[in-house]
Amino acid sequence: MQLAPRIAHIAGTDGDGWGIYYRTREMIRAGERVLNLTIGEHDVKTDAAILTAMHGAAMAGHTGYTFGAGLPELRAAIAKRVQARTGVATRAENVVVTPGGQSALFSTHMALLDRGDTGLYCAPFYPTYPGTIRATGAEAVAVPTRSSRAFQPEAAAIMAAATPTARTLLINSPNNPTGVIYSRETLEGIAEAAQAADLWLISDEVYDTQVWEGQHLSPRALPGMAERTVVIGSMSKSHAMTGSRLGWVVAPEAVVEAITLLSTVTTYGVPAFIQHAALHALAQGEGFEAGIADPFRRRREIAARALAGSQAIRAIPSAGAMYVMLDIRATGLSGNAFAERLLEEERIAVMPGESFGAPAAGHCRVAMTIPDDDFAEAMARLAAFADRLLP
Ligand SMILES: Cc1ncc(COP(=O)(O)O)c(C=O)c1O
Repeated sequence: MQLAPRIAHIAGTDGDGWGIYYRTREMIRAGERVLNLTIGEHDVKTDAAILTAMHGAAMAGHTGYTFGAGLPELRAAIAKRVQARTGVATRAENVVVTPGGQSALFSTHMALLDRGDTGLYCAPFYPTYPGTIRATGAEAVAVPTRSSRAFQPEAAAIMAAATPTARTLLINSPNNPTGVIYSRETLEGIAEAAQAADLWLISDEVYDTQVWEGQHLSPRALPGMAERTVVIGSMSKSHAMTGSRLGWVVAPEAVVEAITLLSTVTTYGVPAFIQHAALHALAQGEGFEAGIADPFRRRREIAARALAGSQAIRAIPSAGAMYVMLDIRATGLSGNAFAERLLEEERIAVMPGESFGAPAAGHCRVAMTIPDDDFAEAMARLAAFADRLLP
């Protein structure tokens, strides 16, 4: 019996590059001490008060089907939050609640792309991006960025990739895997290119509460962009609610309606008790969110101190998100070889840059997601290891 070729098409041919991650999990399961810097998830669990709100909502009877775009009060709360953070007029009708940011990415691409179309995405990229685009039947094409330009996308590269079949461009700032925040100049260049090539801009802003330096600017706020921009949001990173699967799309109403239609044949929406917990979490305000982000802010400083004297490593200046990208090309190793040896010889696990696309070759991504003391040890040993590799 045959599977639909669509599935093989989603996976693509380039492999998923997660070998190190799976090996690390096996080693940890076997009882080995591995300092695991591969995973983009907080080392704290969802706050007990949010879980209490979830339990309370379930006990109050919010356990039935929840068709549609989301609870009206949650859509309104998200619209209010987005408007307050970006200054762009946003109504509940511009919001659809989804089971996590990944589902929001999938639904958005399903709503905007078809067979024969091309979806663009910037590389380095979050590893689900190309498969998400290919799942629609469209072709996924990477727009390369350059390490020497701190991986800020350039309008000329977007225009070069924007063939007549291109319909969408997916960007992500603050960025996973690079930790870079796109500058106003970068975003203006992206907006200009999107307008010139008549592209939908899909802006993945799931790390918008993790800003260490400078400012996060949503491109939806740029002139003429609200009508062609779709913003992806999530409670996963901002509220340490990865397992709750609560995300959203903010978009023009026609896109919201298309995604709502899609939810009728896929998810039936998000469980009401989780939506109520999300409402409770959003009401906790910025102080709560800063508390969730703080450990990464601290560890970014720890990383900077540990790497300051390194001859072998150049850190890409990390301005946001829970990651630091390290340029290790001076060691003469590929990102893959460096990560393999680091795991083998030091029992420290990092993601090879190659897992995030060709422009990140010769780099490694460090997720700052283990306790401070362990993180400090890992970074000091990683730096010493890299320096020993210098010719
Ligand atoms: C850039 C980016 N987008 C989207 C997601 C998906 O997050 P979630 O589906 O948990 O909201 C992640 C998760 O790591 C991510 O790093």
